Amino acid sequence: MNDQTVTELTFYRIRDRIHEISGIFLGYEKEYLLRQRLSGIIRDKNLENFEALADYLEKNNPNGWKNDVISAITVNETSFFRDSHPFMNLQKLVQNEFPGRALRILSIGCANGQEPVSISIALQECNTNCGISYRIYGVDIDIKVIEAARKNIYRKEEILRGVPPSFREKYFVQNPGGDYSASDGIFYWIQYHTENIVHGLEHSIEKEYDIVFLRNVLIYFKPETRERVLQYVHSIMAKGSFLILGASENIFGYNHLFASVIYDKSIFYRKLYE
Ligand SMILES: C[S@@+](CC[C@H](N)C(=O)[O-])C[C@H]1O[C@@H](n2cnc3c(N)ncnc32)[C@H](O)[C@@H]1O
Repeated sequence: MNDQTVTELTFYRIRDRIHEISGIFLGYEKEYLLRQRLSGIIRDKNLENFEALADYLEKNNPNGWKNDVISAITVNETSFFRDSHPFMNLQKLVQNEFPGRALRILSIGCANGQEPVSISIALQECNTNCGISYRIYGVDIDIKVIEAARKNIYRKEEILRGVPPSFREKYFVQNPGGDYSASDGIFYWIQYHTENIVHGLEHSIEKEYDIVFLRNVLIYFKPETRERVLQYVHSIMAKGSFLILGASENIFGYNHLFASVIYDKSIFYRKLYE
């Protein structure tokens, strides 16, 4: 089944449906990825070939399948304290900009929860100095990663890869099977929801976020989708709030929405009012 070919036409039919549902855009050079990742669905659903999958996805209400296809196609790569600097400088940002405040934080494309947990740890570390309280809303289009995030269970390798030993001791508990969970004092402040940021938030309650993490998500979108998402994110951010992007991302072309503010080795983006 893995050896099945995907004709160019079928690739475009499936690709367009994925784009419509999720905003994720695959160029034809990603044909191998689509073939590899969706071949399991063809097998599990007893479909004859990729054409049959395209037919199915083009039908009116492929909801159950939609989740399977989106889960198969999303890149959920993440780590604790990814690129480390934003998390360390988050403490300075909060001390300077939000002392004593109750913060609403959004992590868009939070994958299996390593980003929200890292944010919560960074804020606990500065809490005694900044006197803040906070709520973190972790959202992702992929229902499978949100289910995993809610379980709060991480493999030992994931912990060893990104969490400094002192934080491991202080903020995680090791479970009998050897994996780890974030302690209650970290996890309590995080809520997870399945959300498609391209279509706007439905369940993630707050209207005005103070800090929005949107890291390593925009790279999967076309420029038009990126623009729409940035406009929308801007609209749900509070006055004086900040956006934090991934290491390879920037707001080039969106200077009317955000202004760069440099904190040590990190660039944070302050919301501008129009
Ligand atoms: C590469 S991971 C980044 C994870 C984390 N933000 C980090 O930087 O480590 C990208 C995540 O974005 C999610 N994603 C992709 N399209 C999305 C959409 N339209 N709405 C919400 N999440 C989306 C994917 O499911 C995936 O978990």
